[in-house]
Amino acid sequence: MASKREQQTILVGVTGCIGAYKACELVRELSRRGFRVKVVMTESATRFVAPLTFRTLSGEPVAVSLWADEPGSKVHHISLAEEASVVVIAPCTANVIAKLAHGRADDMLTTTVLATEAPVIVAPAMNTHMWRKDVTQANVNALRARGYTFVEPAYGALACGDVGEGRLADIAVIADAAQAEATRARDLSGLHVLVTAGPTHEPIDPVRFIGNRSSGKTGFAIAEEAARRGARVSLVTGPVTLPDPFGVEVVRVTTALQMRAAVLARFDSSDVVIASAAVADFRPASFASGKIKKAEAPETLALERNPDILAELGERNDGRAVLVGFAAETSGVRASAREKLLAKKLDLVVANDVSGELGFETDENRVVLVTSYAAEELPVLDKRLIARELLDRVAALVRAKRSV
Ligand code: PMT
Repeated sequence: MASKREQQTILVGVTGCIGAYKACELVRELSRRGFRVKVVMTESATRFVAPLTFRTLSGEPVAVSLWADEPGSKVHHISLAEEASVVVIAPCTANVIAKLAHGRADDMLTTTVLATEAPVIVAPAMNTHMWRKDVTQANVNALRARGYTFVEPAYGALACGDVGEGRLADIAVIADAAQAEATRARDLSGLHVLVTAGPTHEPIDPVRFIGNRSSGKTGFAIAEEAARRGARVSLVTGPVTLPDPFGVEVVRVTTALQMRAAVLARFDSSDVVIASAAVADFRPASFASGKIKKAEAPETLALERNPDILAELGERNDGRAVLVGFAAETSGVRASAREKLLAKKLDLVVANDVSGELGFETDENRVVLVTSYAAEELPVLDKRLIARELLDRVAALVRAKRSV
């Protein structure tokens, strides 16, 4: 068995549903594939299968109550949340999906899921009508937008006598999804990923600046996802109001020149650079130390060109680092992305058309991933999911670079 995998813990959450007995087979299958498996059950799940069954199959204590004696020094749901490489809830009832979608945490399973940074896979099982209800689908979509993976329920005869969608998916399919996430959870370990984010502000006087509408959401989502996948992450960001992502070195700067200095100081140790910042191309030629009075203001503002940080990295790169740029345009975005790919010697450009409502400040975006050999259009996605898709491609580019 792979030694790497042996170190990974998959946490299986079991909820109160007749399909709970199938979770026994899931625990066995994941153990067979070399994972350490721990089980968390809701109180209702214990009505269907005894905790002792899972304890025997996994060889690990089973967590049910928030109030039971804790095995370690740390609060139990927190230690489980931190230990898990992946959380798989199978079967998952409509009730638990609703709780997760609304951030409720009133038992061992939901507190653990709320506390975890690990990817969460949900395999629903319920009556067809419950599954199809608008409210259930809205909860599923809300969780999907937050990055949860769903293993869709299968069609067939249900325990209640109905026939339709709602059966727990095949155990092998659920185990495959868990294994894929476990692999992804490690695919950037050992790498230093440098991300730029947000706008830059180029001061005119102490109260005015040249800037743009970038919120930093894209870059912060990328940094967070890279850290979750095991990378050492440095995030150089212009002025934004977002909190520091967990486990990431955050360098807050204001101007393009400061961003350049912070990026160059970290470039030599970086394996991957992802430049999502909207760097101001120009700065005022001079800075007035006092607020410029309206009556004394010149008619025109003299500007100087800022250095192109990414182009400089492209020049310095000896082929070692994977370089990813962004292109935001209101027209001709694919052509512009291709130009930037060549001009700045990049491996990939994330092209976004910002002529509509998406792009700056929004939670979602529609992007095209442009390389020298392909242009892959993604659907409208939450920026966290775009970060995940992008890092899948980046991990492949790193592997390709290292294999030559
Ligand atoms: O922050 P959000 O609200 O989530 O918005 C995200 C975004 C729309 C800002 C982001 O997705 C995006 O598209 N960022 C790049 C914006 C842009 O217009 O880039 P550009 O065409 O000016 O530059 C191309 C590339 O060179 C970018 O990777 C940029 O970071 C880099 N660059 C540009 C100028 C400069 N002086 N130095 C640079 O490094």
